[in-house]
Amino acid sequence: MGRIFSGIQPTGGLHLGNYLGAIRNWVKFQDLHESFFCIVDLHALTTLPDPKQLRLDIRGIAAAYIAAGIDPERSYIFPQSAVSAHCELAWVFACLTPLGWLNRMTQFKEKAGKQRENANLGLYAYPVLQAADILIYKATHVPIGEDQKQHVELARDIAGAFNRQYGIEYFELPVPLILKTAARVMSLRDGTSKMSKSDPSDYSRIHFMDDPDTIALKVRKAKTDPDPIAGTPGAMENRPEALNLLGIYAALSDQSLEEVCRQFEGSTFALFKKNLTDQTIMVMEPIRQRILSLLDDQTYLDTILKKGADKARELALQHLNEIQEMVGFIKV
Ligand code: TYM
Repeated sequence: MGRIFSGIQPTGGLHLGNYLGAIRNWVKFQDLHESFFCIVDLHALTTLPDPKQLRLDIRGIAAAYIAAGIDPERSYIFPQSAVSAHCELAWVFACLTPLGWLNRMTQFKEKAGKQRENANLGLYAYPVLQAADILIYKATHVPIGEDQKQHVELARDIAGAFNRQYGIEYFELPVPLILKTAARVMSLRDGTSKMSKSDPSDYSRIHFMDDPDTIALKVRKAKTDPDPIAGTPGAMENRPEALNLLGIYAALSDQSLEEVCRQFEGSTFALFKKNLTDQTIMVMEPIRQRILSLLDDQTYLDTILKKGADKARELALQHLNEIQEMVGFIKV
């Protein structure tokens, strides 16, 4: 029986990539493992969001987790900032992490872009805090989309560096869990770039809060090509938009890509898009409705977050005490 940890940044609302790449899998894993699902507001601060909006987004993500099937009776849902041990462990890890490791992080390079000198320290140190998020709970498994794999690998390296430095196998190396279908959901406008909240085009992604008409419009406008659907994924190698839409359908209907290709072989995209619209609405509309009703009950949401934070704090403090002892701090 392992322990699960994962998190999402509370900025810009959630999209289908977050659902298919992460949350949907969390729902499956929570039955098997003790699970901590965090709303990583400290990470979100790297973009300096408007404080009022950040507060709304934190509760919005909590509502979305529950609406999408995270059971607050079994799993712990909490804001990262409520457990200060994340930051305390991040400092210990910062002192063990060579700059060379951080310089390899592709997400920093993407986010900092050409303005590297102006990027803040928080953005640069971001993966160290992420390692602390996972390891302060001694989590063994981290369900994520493909884009976070490098960060979890860094967490493994940092855990190993800690163990070597203090001569004890204190941390088990956490394992990234990336499910094959929808590990990387691509933009609806460009099959070679990831569906992302930072894409300037709203038509590139489907949001949790999109109503059925908006979903239908976005799917209709999604980029495709004029050829009919082939019977195997291999026969569509150079058709990234086609493969992306089929992959989304496969994930939403719990089928393999191969099965979906066989099912729609020879069909036009006009016809397939009708099926994709129906399938997306069937999965996402009940989630949107539940989010709306959860957002009406802030007291309930705050009770869930407090319960999650209390449990998380207790476990994190227990580990932090052990770690502080190991590195040589004294209790006063
Ligand atoms: P974030 O907020 O960018 O994304 C949250 C989760 O959604 C997945 N995801 C996708 N999966 C498939 N296709 C996509 N287009 C797509 N876009 C996003 C991400 O892989 C992720 O699993 N640094 C993290 C948050 C974090 C974290 C952690 C995660 C902080 N501490 C500790 C795991 C463990 C992030 O920014 O994810």
